[in-house]
Amino acid sequence: MNVAVRPEDAVSHQPLAAPFLAGFRSLLSETTGTWVNWEGEAPSWLSGDLLRTGPALFEVGGRPYRHWFDGLAMLYRFALAPDGVAYTNRFLRSESFAAAIDDHRVMHGGFATNSDSPYWRRVMDPVIGRMTDNANVNVFKFGEDDFVALTEVPRAMRFDRQTLATLGALTWDDQLKSHTMTAHPLRDAWRRVVYNLETVFSVPSLYRLTRMADGVTTREVVAEIRVDHPAYMHSFAMSRNYLILVECPLVVHPLRMLLRSGPFISAYRWTPERGTCLTVVDKDSGTIVRRCLAEPCFGFHVVNAFEQDGTVAVDFVAYPDAAVVGGLALDRLRTGARQCAGMLTRFTVSLDTGTSATSILSDSLLELPHFDWRRQTGIAYRYVWAVGQSGAAFINDLQKHDLRCGTIARWSEPGCYAGEPVFVAAPEAEAEDDGIILSVVLDSQRHRSFLLLLDAATMTEQARAWMPHAIPFGFHGNHYPVAPRAQADG
Ligand SMILES: [Fe+2]
Repeated sequence: MNVAVRPEDAVSHQPLAAPFLAGFRSLLSETTGTWVNWEGEAPSWLSGDLLRTGPALFEVGGRPYRHWFDGLAMLYRFALAPDGVAYTNRFLRSESFAAAIDDHRVMHGGFATNSDSPYWRRVMDPVIGRMTDNANVNVFKFGEDDFVALTEVPRAMRFDRQTLATLGALTWDDQLKSHTMTAHPLRDAWRRVVYNLETVFSVPSLYRLTRMADGVTTREVVAEIRVDHPAYMHSFAMSRNYLILVECPLVVHPLRMLLRSGPFISAYRWTPERGTCLTVVDKDSGTIVRRCLAEPCFGFHVVNAFEQDGTVAVDFVAYPDAAVVGGLALDRLRTGARQCAGMLTRFTVSLDTGTSATSILSDSLLELPHFDWRRQTGIAYRYVWAVGQSGAAFINDLQKHDLRCGTIARWSEPGCYAGEPVFVAAPEAEAEDDGIILSVVLDSQRHRSFLLLLDAATMTEQARAWMPHAIPFGFHGNHYPVAPRAQADG
């Protein structure tokens, strides 16, 4: 074990006002290949790595970051075997990390925390493409075995899959310049490309949909859509033939964004009178096929989308408004219970008439949705796994939604707070839920986290492996098989 961060870099730990706040305490230690045995019985076929990223240092020089989304990124590797897990965690050695540790300053503006740079520098940084490299949102595999950590800007950070050593920023082999890029690229197994959504703040501004072939880092433009007030979009949707934007009415005037003195998200305004705009774009021609309005709502995550009977269905985790954005600020979280999850909502767009319909698929609160994305992305699917907020101050349980039957199966344990459930299909699986769910769970009473392994069909526990410390609440990750595979891994 080595300690990368001095304890004085973090705020002294006060007694917690609520148990879930243990998930927002900084994790200062790193460990390499620490072996822990499963308690219980993991499947004999279990192998590969669960790779994750998430914020883990919530202070700079003793001063707190403002928002959960701004903590400095830690990478995690859970190397899986039938008898146990080899656990590794390392801070992403980004410019942001170095400035925070060496100089006690916030180098790049984040989601809701300003940089410590003077105003002119904050304005110039996006113009010259100098943006945050604190990639704490998601991990993705480009090409054969090239892993990157992502945040919401076009600056992907490469890392070594085995050691989690930071390898530097991914170099784009193109001339495209943009200000945001989602941390949720979508891999199209039919076309063997990766799509993403970027935003260019200008007058007018642009939504830019790009595609990138396997094995290269050259982005091609699929479509550029002019927009007067760009919306904050954390993710987008993909069906077999279409890319779909879910444009919630949390929008920004581009000049307000470019000339802002405050943090990124504070420039946006909630404007429910605009409604939620659904834009269906043909993947191959880049033309807008349909554009229609739905009732105003806010959300971070598209679950999946598919075409059926002349319609495109888009499943989305929807909130009534954008209050959750401010509600996840660290000082707000520390003052009491928040709604931290939304409702599973389906937008259905008629390709014939261009009209939309909205239906609530479940009134159970959920977030961080997952499904069998390797086999079901872009096509009709049945199961969604997610974290849920069931009578607790923070997201706590794990849920399996059966979209066909409308039923929900759950896992929970007192004092425990579960992270994103990652589905791993069993070898030769036929049923959509034949496999396991992996989730990093914080036990607030034992002050430690464990990797939970559930039967994905029944949501019953098969095994758990205790980690050497409490792991702060993170966002996203994925399971990757041991050997590089040419098919649809991403
Ligand atoms: Fe996300």
